[in-house]
Amino acid sequence: MQLREATSDDLELLYDMLLEAFNWDGTARLTRDEVVADVHTVRYLGGWRRAGDFGLVAVEGETPLGAIWARALLAGAPGYGYVADDIPEIGMGVIRGRRGQGVGSALLAGCLEQARELGWRALSLSVEDGNAAARALYRRHGFSVVGRNGGSDTMLRAL
Ligand SMILES: CC(C)(COP(=O)(O)OP(=O)(O)OC[C@H]1O[C@@H](n2cnc3c(N)ncnc32)[C@H](O)[C@@H]1OP(=O)(O)O)[C@@H](O)C(=O)NCCC(=O)NCCS
Repeated sequence: MQLREATSDDLELLYDMLLEAFNWDGTARLTRDEVVADVHTVRYLGGWRRAGDFGLVAVEGETPLGAIWARALLAGAPGYGYVADDIPEIGMGVIRGRRGQGVGSALLAGCLEQARELGWRALSLSVEDGNAAARALYRRHGFSVVGRNGGSDTMLRAL
């Protein structure tokens, strides 16, 4: 497995992974069309990759295994895990057949490094109640709960 930078050509993959993040428990709560059309969810990836966006794709040869991305959203049009205008919110997903093999951990570690190099002061995210695999991963990488939004916790990792 290798990590490479996520480019504008990866938008479809990122939407696939955003859909996995919304449907993390395997139930199809949102369809792909809904994720692309919804005013709240499209904030995460609409216009990718615009100034300030960054992320990584995990690949095996040419095959994508998962992805992570980060975007600083503003208070007027925030993400579910919004903390501040100058703190990008991340999203991530790993394809179903390759979870639990360290891909997510590698993506998250790589994204933290990217964010540090770019000079961001912290990263945030939103994780739904019950998503124990994601929570365990985030805690292991230094994220802690700083807020609550509906049925999700907002987590923050200072850099
Ligand atoms: C969350 C996700 C990205 C993690 O990716 P991954 O490649 O499986 O992650 P890793 O293999 O690096 O690590 C997973 C960790 O979770 C643990 N884990 C797996 N299932 C778990 C569960 N039900 N409860 C607690 N921990 C669990 C694993 O043991 C592993 O921890 P370890 O390395 O200490 O053993 C992946 O599961 C995924 O794509 N889920 C669906 C989308 C999603 O939830 N995105 C995040 C939304 S906030």
